[in-house]
Amino acid sequence: MLLTDRIPRHVGIIMDGNGRWAELRGLPRIEGHRRGAERSREVVEVAMEIGIKNLTLYAFSIENWQRPPSEVTTLMRLLELYLKKELREFMKRGIVFKTIGETYMLPENIQLLIKEAEEKTALNKGMTLTAALSYGGRNEILRAVKKVLHSGIRPEELTEDLFNSFLDTANLPGPDLIIRTSGEMRISNFLLWQSAYSELYFTDTLWPDFTRDEFLFAIQDYQQRERRFGNISVRS
Ligand code: IPE
Ligand code: IPE
Ligand code: MG
Repeated sequence: MLLTDRIPRHVGIIMDGNGRWAELRGLPRIEGHRRGAERSREVVEVAMEIGIKNLTLYAFSIENWQRPPSEVTTLMRLLELYLKKELREFMKRGIVFKTIGETYMLPENIQLLIKEAEEKTALNKGMTLTAALSYGGRNEILRAVKKVLHSGIRPEELTEDLFNSFLDTANLPGPDLIIRTSGEMRISNFLLWQSAYSELYFTDTLWPDFTRDEFLFAIQDYQQRERRFGNISVRS
């Protein structure tokens, strides 16, 4: 049972394991990515149903550019299809679509699709869906530092809140919960600044097998946690 008063305000997901899922079945890795994209759709649906206001999906890291060109190309093709297909769905469901990361490195046609989706959905009132694309946490922090230096803000004026406003995630609360699939227990450069007090949930399930029920289970698990933020337990 979900506690309706403890729904995380922001969930981030490191969608990992597509390649292994395919390899285990003797299929090309791209089949895993294709199946993974289906899972993303479902997770977006469930997130909306249960009232999560912000969902951030780590879809392509800045380090992922190092993969073989053929894999990068097919991932970009899938991303293109996803953006083309989902815009209508975003409008129907009132989703605000955003991206974080070095999106200028993406192929131009994808940049245009992103721009279109961001502009068209900007005034929607529903959940904010953020896609981390060509994203790296260190890269984001470094870009923010450069912007601060250029802004003329004096060192003594700089606060955590002000610094936060220079990040790609300026208008998002920090993630309450970060989920990573596929059994890897690392952050892989995802939301480094923002995850300072995130609850982490790891599962061995590969992303293409991450069902609606498992997502709900992760939320339930989160709801049982006691977040102390450095303070002592409320129970003591
Ligand atoms: C996650 O699946 C998707 C991306 C990183 C683009 P992987 O492609 O990393 O799958 P594994 O980790 O190799 O199984
Ligand atoms: C993290 O997965 C990035 C995404 C899920 C987009 P990776 O598969 O790239 O991460 P590592 O290499 O296992 O750390
Ligand atoms: Mg991986």
